Amino acid sequence: MVKDDGLAAGKGVVVTSDRAEALAHAEQCLAKSGGRVVIEEYLEGPEVSLFCVTDGVDVVPLLPAQDFKRVGDGDLGPNTGGMGAYTPLAWTPHGMVDEVVERVALPVVREMALRGAPFSGLLYVGLAVTRRGIRVIEFNARFGDPETQAVLALLESGLGALLYASATGHLGELPPLIWNHGAAVTVVVAAGGYPASPRSGDVITGLEAAGAVEGVQVFHAGTTHAVEEADAIVATGGRVLAITARGASLAEARDRAYEAVALIELDGSHCRSDIALAAVRGEVTVPG
Ligand code: GLY
Repeated sequence: MVKDDGLAAGKGVVVTSDRAEALAHAEQCLAKSGGRVVIEEYLEGPEVSLFCVTDGVDVVPLLPAQDFKRVGDGDLGPNTGGMGAYTPLAWTPHGMVDEVVERVALPVVREMALRGAPFSGLLYVGLAVTRRGIRVIEFNARFGDPETQAVLALLESGLGALLYASATGHLGELPPLIWNHGAAVTVVVAAGGYPASPRSGDVITGLEAAGAVEGVQVFHAGTTHAVEEADAIVATGGRVLAITARGASLAEARDRAYEAVALIELDGSHCRSDIALAAVRGEVTVPG
C-alpha cells in the first residue's frame, strides 16, 4: 500500500501487488515539491471494531462488532459512515478480544499516561484480522456508528455505571459487564442520493410498525419532526435511521431487522440487503 503523505484529492493511495506500479506511484509522490510517501503493509482480512472503555489505567472491552462501510451490497460503491453492523462475531480467533486489550489498548493507555496525556473514555480500536494476526487500522476516541447501536443492544448491565466508572477512575472495581447471549444486527436506512448528495424533506412512515417488530429498536439519526406537515417525521438526509434488532441467534436478529426495514417507507431511500449475511452463512473467514 503506497500512500501520498498529503492531500491528493482521493488519488493518493495505490494498493497493488505489482512492484513496478508501487514504485511508480512512490516516485510520483516524491516528485511533488516537499513530497513524502508512506508505505504500509497490505491488510487482507475481515475488519473488527472493538470499543474499549478506559479510565486511564484499566480497560474494559465491549463486544467486538463488524460494520459495513461501502454503500452497496457486496462492499461495492463509495465509502459511507457505515451502512450496518452486527455483533457478536462468531468467526474471530479464540482469545482475540483479550489479545487486543493486552497488545493494543492497554499499551496505548499506558503510553498516553507516560506522555502526560492520560486518556479516559472510549478507545475505538479498528482492526483487520489477517493471516499474520491482528493489525490496527485506526483509533478513534469515540463510539463508532452504527456498531454502537448493535453492541449496546446486547449490554444488559448499566451503561451509565460503566461510563461513570470510566470518568471517575473506578473501572477496576466495576463488576464484569453482563451481556445478552443473543445477537444484534443494525441496518441503516439512508436517504436517496446518500452519500454523494443526500436528499431531505421526505416524509417517513411505518416507524411505529417497525418499532413494534419483536426485538427491534428504531434509532433516529437524520430525522426531524415537521409540525407544518401534519406532525410528520421527515428525513433530514444522510443516514436517516438505524434499525436495530436483537435475536436469540444472528439469523433471527437479521430477519427481525430486515422485517422492520421493510415496514419503513421513505421515498428514494436505500439500505444494504447483505448486512451480517456472510456471517449468518458462516462465510466470514480469516485468511490462512
Ligand atoms: N463505523 C465507523 C466509525 O464509526 O468510524
